[in-house]
Amino acid sequence: MPVKIVLTVVVCILVAVAGLFGFIYSGFYDVAALHPDKPWVAWALHKTSDRAIQVRLAGIEVPPGLDKPDIVQAGGRLFGANCIVCHSGPGLQPTAIAQGINPAPPNLFRANRHPRMDEMFWFIKNGVKMTGMPGFGKTHPDEDIWALCAFLRTAPGMSAQDFADKTGIRVLSSDKPAG
Ligand code: HEC
Repeated sequence: MPVKIVLTVVVCILVAVAGLFGFIYSGFYDVAALHPDKPWVAWALHKTSDRAIQVRLAGIEVPPGLDKPDIVQAGGRLFGANCIVCHSGPGLQPTAIAQGINPAPPNLFRANRHPRMDEMFWFIKNGVKMTGMPGFGKTHPDEDIWALCAFLRTAPGMSAQDFADKTGIRVLSSDKPAG
């Protein structure tokens, strides 16, 4: 390769690296959770996360028997103990934590949601960096994570009564008790 081309490539790389460090050290990028991301940043982050998860779903096999009521109930109890602080539930007010997190924790009880078992398993087991979603694979066996999935499969459109029966949670300590 002629020396000129090699030099041009090297200079371009150096300028790009200098630009990157300049951006990092300038403090220009706003990391405040309360300020929404620019649309192109939000798009890039969501796409990166979405693709990263889709290419990692292969090989996750949904075990049989997850519709058994005792497994759904066990998942409900685990949800009550670990998840409602962020994801809330029917009949509950969103906590201060849920309101302050960016990206906002998705509502898993929306009537038009179509939960995918393998995808939920991946999310719950691994968590997602820089979103607040913790990876429960560090502390919980796969069996518990599948129980959570079993419960969440019944979540779309769930009534407040059903939610309270399955999770054992009616009022959060941060809620004002009703009545
Ligand atoms: C500290 C807050 C927090 C806690 C606690 C938490 N989550 Fe999340 N969760 C999030 C956030 C934020 C996201 C969105 C992540 C993203 O944008 O990729 C999320 C995403 C998810 C998703 C993917 C939903 C979708 O369709 O995008 C599932 C499923 C989920 N959480 C289940 C759980 C379960 C089950 C628990 C408890 C065992 C739990 N989460 C605990 C914050 C939390």
